[in-house]
Amino acid sequence: MRVRELTVLGGTDKDGRPEPVRRLTLRPGDVVAIVGPTGSGKSALLRDVELLAQGDTVTGRRVLINGERPPESLRFDPERRLVAHVTQTMGFLADCSVREFVELHAESRGADVDPEEVIELANRFTGEPIHPDMHMTELSGGQSRSLMIADVLLISDSPVVLIDEIENAGIRKREALEELTRHDRIVLLVTHDPAVALRSRLRIVMRNGAMTELVETSEREREVADVLDLVDEWWLELRDRVRRGERLDDVKPPSGVRA
Ligand SMILES: Nc1ncnc2c1ncn2[C@@H]1O[C@H](COP(=O)(O)OP(=O)(O)OP(=O)(O)O)[C@@H](O)[C@H]1O
Ligand SMILES: [Mg+2]
Repeated sequence: MRVRELTVLGGTDKDGRPEPVRRLTLRPGDVVAIVGPTGSGKSALLRDVELLAQGDTVTGRRVLINGERPPESLRFDPERRLVAHVTQTMGFLADCSVREFVELHAESRGADVDPEEVIELANRFTGEPIHPDMHMTELSGGQSRSLMIADVLLISDSPVVLIDEIENAGIRKREALEELTRHDRIVLLVTHDPAVALRSRLRIVMRNGAMTELVETSEREREVADVLDLVDEWWLELRDRVRRGERLDDVKPPSGVRA
């Protein structure tokens, strides 16, 4: 099924009052950030989209696909899932190697993909390379998040992608975002990271369980995002050096960084 439009119709906040944003429409190619303090309902909003809620979740929101209520089969048939979700709490129970896991998943989705290709893509996002023979349980937070994103891109291939915080995992956010946005998907991501938020077209501001405001990213903010990217690369490099046991006495801010 082709998704031309995904619409979220406002529900109620935690006190049962109608949420200020009554209607939000997203189209392929849209990258939207969800921002707000802890407990403000960011993950709940993602869950509503994942479940294609129809007034049957705590928020009372409804989700339309191409302007219409989606058929039940789309909501509940795992084979026809429109939405891929990279979640905040992601542990793998699978006791197998990374290669086996990716193979199994590709097979179950009927995707003709070489596991090596998925792992290679994941390794562009993580600073700590994943080896195909590593066990799933050995992966660090950054490695598993990177693998999941590569998996979403190459195997699940869903038109709607939800990501609950990619930042704390120490992955190359800009590369991951660029890949995610390349194929005309709708991407909704929860973030506390300005470098990620400013790369999106729009940010949804959450408060007390409600979508309270929509903020469009300005041209100036995009420039700020470029500076943040430089800082980010620099930070990853310093992190690597510290982990290798090096001293950082010689460090200067990256060229091009001015407030
Ligand atoms: N509109 C709502 N009405 C009622 N309950 C809600 C609403 N939105 C969220 N909740 C509930 O509030 C709690 C916190 O929401 P949620 O986990 O989505 O917050 P969060 O912004 O993701 O927080 P964190 O930053 O800590 O991950 C959850 O139990 C959720 O079910
Ligand atoms: Mg959350």
